[in-house]
Amino acid sequence: MSPRHRAPVESRVYVPAAGEASDVELMPAGDVTDGVVRVGGTIRRPHQPQSLAVAAYLDWLEDAGFDGSPRFLGRDAEGRDVLTFLPGRCAGPVPAAWVQSEELLASVAELLRRLHAASAGFVPDGHPFPPRPVRQDPAELVCHLDVTPQNVVVRGGLAAGVVDFDLAGPTTAFKDSFNTAMHWVPLRDPADAWPGWGAADPFRRLRIFADAYGWDEGERRRLPAFGTEATALSYERMRHNAHALGGGWARMWDDGVGRMIRRRGLWIEANAGRLVAALTG
Ligand SMILES: Nc1ncnc2c1ncn2[C@@H]1O[C@H](COP(=O)(O)OP(=O)(O)OP(=O)(O)O)[C@@H](O)[C@H]1O
Ligand SMILES: [Mg+2]
Repeated sequence: MSPRHRAPVESRVYVPAAGEASDVELMPAGDVTDGVVRVGGTIRRPHQPQSLAVAAYLDWLEDAGFDGSPRFLGRDAEGRDVLTFLPGRCAGPVPAAWVQSEELLASVAELLRRLHAASAGFVPDGHPFPPRPVRQDPAELVCHLDVTPQNVVVRGGLAAGVVDFDLAGPTTAFKDSFNTAMHWVPLRDPADAWPGWGAADPFRRLRIFADAYGWDEGERRRLPAFGTEATALSYERMRHNAHALGGGWARMWDDGVGRMIRRRGLWIEANAGRLVAALTG
């Protein structure tokens, strides 16, 4: 949709074209948002407090020429957010063996770099993002902040798009790239490895990510300290959300996500030297 033809995000209404497919397909469930479905060439998601801020960000990305994010088409007759469906496949809750591809890992980093370049200059004004729990990140750049294997659309073995902008908001590009590496390398205690991922080498994979994204020397050297601090904050935010919001957040907490995050922080700290050596050697 060209900007000329777009209504403001708050009044944008999705009107299906005559004869448009209306078959409903349930999408794989994430941890928090219930009821994400595909209807023809669209995704329908429950409207949420951050929806309009996200919609304005998606408009910005469209205007910046970024082709790897869904378009916000408006709200349907049931009040749900309507987004374009990006063809391809996403990892399931436990990423299968194909997700380990190193070419895919590098392409995720490259896609993220392009997303960050396209995000530059976006200032959420009319529709601010909700504040983050516990404390705010430095507001350098609006980023995605949840680029997990489940939220990346893969085509021809390479990352083609990113979906689920629920956690987007102002932060720093380094934080978003650390977060993405954490999910995709992944950076976690070997005791928490996904089934079938025991042989994946996190040091080699982190280096692939760093080179493909383009972390500079300073970023490579401060990664362990940054990661330890980010992990501690993530623990606090998860705990806060579990108590304040309940639902899927509380379920994750009860399933032990807090302990898993703690083990990740300890693993990063214990392996600080090896991580820097892998990134700079
Ligand atoms: N625009 C889209 N194009 C293609 N596939 C999508 C799109 N949006 C969602 N999906 C698919 O549906 C799945 C679930 O959707 P989404 O990630 O938006 O919600 P969720 O993960 O359930 O939410 P949350 O992470 O908040 O719990 C995704 O993992 C992806 O497979
Ligand atoms: Mg998701």
